[in-house]
Amino acid sequence: MLNDRGFDRWSEEYDEFVKKSSVEYPFDGYYEVLEFVYNKIQSKKKARILDVGIGTGVLTHRLYKDGAVIYGVDFSREMIQISLEKMPSAIILQWDFNKGLPMELQKEKFDYIISTYAIHHLNDDKKIEFIVKLRDSLKENGKLIIADISFETVEKRNECKSKYADKWDTDEFYMAAVEILAKLKAIGVDAEYTQISACAGVLELLKS
Ligand SMILES: C[S@@+](CC[C@H](N)C(=O)[O-])C[C@H]1O[C@@H](n2cnc3c(N)ncnc32)[C@H](O)[C@@H]1O
Repeated sequence: MLNDRGFDRWSEEYDEFVKKSSVEYPFDGYYEVLEFVYNKIQSKKKARILDVGIGTGVLTHRLYKDGAVIYGVDFSREMIQISLEKMPSAIILQWDFNKGLPMELQKEKFDYIISTYAIHHLNDDKKIEFIVKLRDSLKENGKLIIADISFETVEKRNECKSKYADKWDTDEFYMAAVEILAKLKAIGVDAEYTQISACAGVLELLKS
């Protein structure tokens, strides 16, 4: 698992890297996943969107160009720098989301909170805790959309792990939808999951 300095070093090549890697594990389907999330966002103009683990803003800068009001958090200073070059008026805070959301954002409410390819840095229990906190930061009828390396079942995750044993990062926590949906249901949170590629999917939940 990379720390903030590791992501700093990756930042310059990140956009080119995902372009070249989007047909193979772990970025197989990367652009389809981002497109899926993009299409979930209705009325993009003026929508208040928070991107957790915003990185270089591959997805978010499209929404920015559509007129959305972009907020972001990321612990990598260099990733943020690149995002700010693409989105000069975005509000992006350097912050480790292991600690939840920064104080400055806790008073804000968002139409959408999105997170792509970032939340696998939290184990499942921390993910649930974070998801509940993020839900509190949504407006009424706001939506949380989490896209990540993930699988429908534990068996599918295991198959992928065996197939890509050489690339599998054992320090990261990839969701199995059956597990995460059950844990959310147990605390009364309804969500839905869509598998997009062999190794990536999208979890969505509405604040109603
Ligand atoms: C693989 S990149 C994904 C970037 C972007 N969301 C995308 O879809 O291309 C993961 C991003 O999450 C950030 N990140 C990872 N762990 C984090 C943490 N604990 N707190 C804040 N940011 C984190 C990294 O710095 C990096 O920018």
